[in-house]
Amino acid sequence: MEKVVSLCKRRGFIFQSSEIYGGLASAWDYGPLGAELKRNVKNAWWKAVVHERDDMVGLDASILMHPQVWKASGHTDNFSDPFIKCSACSRYYRLDKVWDEITDSPWFASVKKMVERAKDMSDLLKWAQTNGKNLCPNLAVVKEPEVTISWLVDSKISWGRVVLNEKDFICRLATDSNGIARTPCPQCGNALPDKGVAANLMLKTYLGPVEDTADAVYLRPETAQGIFVNFLNILDTTHRKLPFGVAQIGKSFRNEITPGNYTFRTREFEQMEIEYFTHPAEAEKSHQEWIDQRFSWYIRLGMKKENLRLRPHGADELAHYAKGCTDIEYNFPFGWSELEGIANRTDFDLKQHSQHSGKDLRYQDLVTNERIFPFIIEPSGGVDRATLAFLVDAYHEETVNDATRVVLRLSKELAPIKVAVLPLLKKNDGIVELAKRIKKDLQKEFVTVYDDTAAIGKLYRRQDEVGTFFCVTVDVQSLEDTQVTVRDRDTMAQERIPIENLRKYLTEKFCGFN
Ligand code: GAP
Repeated sequence: MEKVVSLCKRRGFIFQSSEIYGGLASAWDYGPLGAELKRNVKNAWWKAVVHERDDMVGLDASILMHPQVWKASGHTDNFSDPFIKCSACSRYYRLDKVWDEITDSPWFASVKKMVERAKDMSDLLKWAQTNGKNLCPNLAVVKEPEVTISWLVDSKISWGRVVLNEKDFICRLATDSNGIARTPCPQCGNALPDKGVAANLMLKTYLGPVEDTADAVYLRPETAQGIFVNFLNILDTTHRKLPFGVAQIGKSFRNEITPGNYTFRTREFEQMEIEYFTHPAEAEKSHQEWIDQRFSWYIRLGMKKENLRLRPHGADELAHYAKGCTDIEYNFPFGWSELEGIANRTDFDLKQHSQHSGKDLRYQDLVTNERIFPFIIEPSGGVDRATLAFLVDAYHEETVNDATRVVLRLSKELAPIKVAVLPLLKKNDGIVELAKRIKKDLQKEFVTVYDDTAAIGKLYRRQDEVGTFFCVTVDVQSLEDTQVTVRDRDTMAQERIPIENLRKYLTEKFCGFN
């Protein structure tokens, strides 16, 4: 992950937001190459789910919506993650995720190692005075070892193998002065409060210049609602029959309690969502079809199949509106994590909006005259997460002539730059002029760059590490035989191609686009 993050900064894929002011936590800006890559991800999605299908249309709804939308959708009442705050280090944790963070923490790993080797309590005391002091200074056993260990003596611990379960044992290390075992802070070890505070995750803002008199509205937490509230407009203007779907790409905002893992979880992010309206009797079939299609989309765009998996949700995980949901997960360096969720939202949304708006959002079958609330299948993915997964998946290192070559093996469709034109000698006016002319011609068709700021070997490496598909090199001989060398990014094979055939040659190479 560190290597990918460093490449992204060094080569202008992703920058920290507001960096010159010290940065804004968990907010990221896409640089010149990142903007191209992200645009390619979105275009590939739009092409696959709108242009290449007969049953889909697009929409671009507003981010700000009537506050009643969020009442009807359930977000005003249900969209919250209870959280807890550490009173010592002021960090926030999601109540349902705090143990994941504890078990991922350096001090937990250190305690575990100590326990495995310890012979008796004196090893715990030693640990508290050394590693514990450095890693979790506010853990009770570190602050007051004698008192805390005295609580432990009562419990049945056989050293080298703690008989208590791991969670109980860790809580006892955080025992408070009343002898009550507590959950420790994953960061500093301080005892955390027992109860979480519910916080609505929607970001509030105001419509109108004077805050006192302005109306409070929310920045949308999902793009989906823009589709539901336009259901009638889309039906009336496109005369679609079931089943059909609406696709939308746009920004969403959530006041996440624990954003992190680079661009994986942020407070401002972009979603690519489909709401597919189907007859209730067809919903299960449609759900499975979308799961299959969305899974194969990532593979078609070059992602390694072994890094992807499907994970059906357990009943306790389902959102309040969903009857079923399957996540597509990617094996990120920080573990398997959700890329996209494909949910069966039933008729919940259209019924809710009918009730709250007073408008009849039922669909009328013109043949049978049946009026029904269609079921909705929702494949909902994150643009930023997909972009990050494509970057991680494409990152490749190999040894060439005893040196490390970094190659971003992005697919032809996703690579931010398709062709780089490189003059072999930047001081030779003839070569430079010809190279610039070739670049001008190619850029009408492909994203093309010209670079003469280093020796050719270095220029190749620079293009490899950003995923540029082909390098076209213009040399002295090109001035005589009007041919150039075309180098393939992955094989590094080189071919002499007549300049007059170059566009056709590259077009044929790129026509493997899906
Ligand atoms: N309309 C359904 C919905 O919004 P979700 O699982 O909350 O479902 C869908 O979000 C997708 O949006 C996720 O699979 C993820 O790719 C992306 N996403 C959600 N929250 C995100 C965040 N805080 N940062 C980046 N991407 C996020």
